[in-house]
Amino acid sequence: MHRTSIFFIILVLIITSMVFITLGLSQKTPADKTALIKKGEYLVTISGCNDCHTPKVFTPEGPVPDMKKLLSGHPANAKLPAVDKSQIGPGKWVLFSEDLTAAVGPWGMSFSANLTPDDQTGIGLWTEEVFIKALRSGKHMGAGRPILPPMPWFNLVNASDEDLKAIFAYLKSLPPIKNPVPAPIPPDELGK
Ligand code: HEC
Repeated sequence: MHRTSIFFIILVLIITSMVFITLGLSQKTPADKTALIKKGEYLVTISGCNDCHTPKVFTPEGPVPDMKKLLSGHPANAKLPAVDKSQIGPGKWVLFSEDLTAAVGPWGMSFSANLTPDDQTGIGLWTEEVFIKALRSGKHMGAGRPILPPMPWFNLVNASDEDLKAIFAYLKSLPPIKNPVPAPIPPDELGK
């Protein structure tokens, strides 16, 4: 064979293998992905996201997260007691529903978001960038209205990209639960 053709074939082989090596390195292997999800589960559990984002079952030992509704937010069909508005306002009380998924205070009434990957009612259509921006900026989806109390987004402002990506990967790995959480109610629409 001609020397230039041999040289050409070797060059093509080198370039192809370099392309495959680069592609291989940039793609996370399933083992990496599982480790990221595990880390996210750990971070979500120890940082108390379930306190507000998971409905509870009431046991003799007290309320515990309802694993069948894990991180699906305030149940859309929950019946909440009437609010005594005279107790609410600046310098007055902040009240929680018994499962801690709804809270009322000077900001009105807020309901914990559905963090499962359901497309319509959860974070199914969210990108990692939107998720990180929301938690760093305190704005709904990173650009909308302010995220209301008692969501402690400011605790996560200094969380590393790596940790927030792990949390997001874990949330995206959950079974999607359809639960249309109500919009917040402003203070002047709270009833009597
Ligand atoms: C003390 C209660 C509480 C805790 C703890 C809590 N959240 Fe929330 N979270 C809320 C409430 C209430 C909302 C809805 C706020 C609103 O409607 O503005 C919310 C909203 C969110 C949203 C939606 C933000 C948006 O853009 O609309 C995300 C994402 C979120 N929480 C993630 C988390 C994560 C992750 C954790 C754990 C690190 C966590 N939350 C812990 C109460 C809480």
